[in-house]
Amino acid sequence: MSVNVLVVSGSTGKQSRTRHIADVAAEAARAAGAEVRVLDLGETALPVADHSDKELMGSDVVKTVREGAAWADGFVLATPEYHGNLSGAMKNWFDYLWPELAGKLAGVIATTGGGGGDMSIVSTKSSFHWCHGFTLPFHAAASGKDFDGGTLTNDKVRVRIQRVGHDVVRYAKPIREAFEAAKAMGKEDPAAGFAGTHA
Ligand SMILES: Cc1cc2nc3c(=O)[nH]c(=O)nc-3n(C[C@H](O)[C@H](O)[C@H](O)COP(=O)(O)O)c2cc1C
Repeated sequence: MSVNVLVVSGSTGKQSRTRHIADVAAEAARAAGAEVRVLDLGETALPVADHSDKELMGSDVVKTVREGAAWADGFVLATPEYHGNLSGAMKNWFDYLWPELAGKLAGVIATTGGGGGDMSIVSTKSSFHWCHGFTLPFHAAASGKDFDGGTLTNDKVRVRIQRVGHDVVRYAKPIREAFEAAKAMGKEDPAAGFAGTHA
């Protein structure tokens, strides 16, 4: 059965390097047999989340974002590193979601100006964990020197990004299926683990 992968590009910049590496990961996930959608937060104008604003929470853009996350078995999350953190746009995407991410898998990739990317990768993983999701223990970052203009020219980094795309496809479904089976055990049974809290 096909695996659904949502690739999220967390830059609002034009001619974004983050979007470029998101596309590299998307291509790898397609090559691995997944059905892939790309959500570019530079193209999809998502207002700052306000859960008390019923009009916003019921708006088409928010419905589309939540439905896209619910559709996915797994995610590739691509963020630019901003002040040693994930981007505000990526964090804002998380702030609309929770049950849509629980029991699913994400691979994380990042772009930076010159840093190693660990801070933005760790913070993106942390947000995903707090939504009860699992993350790959392997990730990839591309810094400014890995690009020629907007094009990734460092082949080692490209291969790391491709590995992330392939591994999300490889592991997303078994993780989601294990979570759904545990959830079906119900709220009262501690053997259901954390999935029981979603039943
Ligand atoms: C507000 C802001 C904060 C940034 N903070 C960092 C940082 O902490 N470390 C770093 O290496 N680069 C930093 N950068 C550089 C960006 O990470 C880099 O330009 C970005 O990954 C390019 O992505 P894009 O082309 O998709 O927008 C920062 C850039 C901006 C605009």
